[in-house]
Amino acid sequence: MSLELKGKTALITGASRGIGRAVALKLASLGADIAIHYRKNLEEAEALEAELGSRFGVKCSKFAADLSELSDIHRFMDEVKAAHPRLDIYVANAAATAFKPLEQIREHHIAKTMNITVTAFILAMNAFKPLMPPGGKVITVSGIDTKKYCANHGLLAAAKSALETLTRYYAVEWAAEQIFVHGVNPGLVDTDSLKVYFGSSYEEAKAGLSRLVPMGKLMPTGDVAELVAFLCSRAADWMNGETLYADGGVGFMMPVYSGK
Ligand SMILES: NC(=O)c1ccc[n+]([C@@H]2O[C@H](COP(=O)([O-])OP(=O)(O)OC[C@H]3O[C@@H](n4cnc5c(N)ncnc54)[C@H](OP(=O)(O)O)[C@@H]3O)[C@@H](O)[C@H]2O)c1
Repeated sequence: MSLELKGKTALITGASRGIGRAVALKLASLGADIAIHYRKNLEEAEALEAELGSRFGVKCSKFAADLSELSDIHRFMDEVKAAHPRLDIYVANAAATAFKPLEQIREHHIAKTMNITVTAFILAMNAFKPLMPPGGKVITVSGIDTKKYCANHGLLAAAKSALETLTRYYAVEWAAEQIFVHGVNPGLVDTDSLKVYFGSSYEEAKAGLSRLVPMGKLMPTGDVAELVAFLCSRAADWMNGETLYADGGVGFMMPVYSGK
């Protein structure tokens, strides 16, 4: 299995932190030049750019865009197209939502959540397709909330379910042109979003969640990145359209009695 990405360019949305950052580091370690997308965290994006250059000697570009805003989605696509005549890998990772029970969800929450995960994905896919050569790869990042009830996740789970469906549809529609579309659905990953979600009870929640996982810990961001790298390889081509579930066995556990 070859994971050499030298000479390729990978665009990763939400790369300033968490899973996106880990994916950028992994793909750069394999030789890919990296296009970093972030929303507003310039300091983190610059730090990542410096690290990618010093550790791996790859080229970097940076794009700031709030993908919940339609005007920003269009500016983002125009800037990427102007900077990159060729895009080999597109990782649709960025997400944000309002974590609330469904009856508290308002129109603007729906618009923003869907814009980032669904609208931006479709518009960017269609805009970037002419940049993608045969052998191009698209990786979508879904979430465990599409499979398991997670309190206050209803809206994001609906958006991610749509993303998984789009992953299958694009995979079929673009297969003849040898552009491969895959998804990854990680389990519980320790990132800033978990800290935001749990607030002051983060440490307690992290310990409790870790006990739900057969391995006894949350998934490290670098392990999600390993899966993304695998999906970027030729070996994964026949998984076209599949969203790879990697929850460490959480989904198999009986909630009442786990044996631990
Ligand atoms: N953490 C988990 O347990 C977990 C589990 C399964 C799946 N996931 C999925 O994995 C992906 C990454 O999650 P994460 O936990 O790594 O997130 P994170 O640490 O909270 O980072 C979020 C990233 O998305 C960017 N972002 C936030 N709001 C945005 C917006 N409105 N428009 C564009 N970009 C925006 C942020 O940019 P700034 O830094 O500039 O704000 C940042 O780069 C998400 O799709 C998430 O649903 C996470």
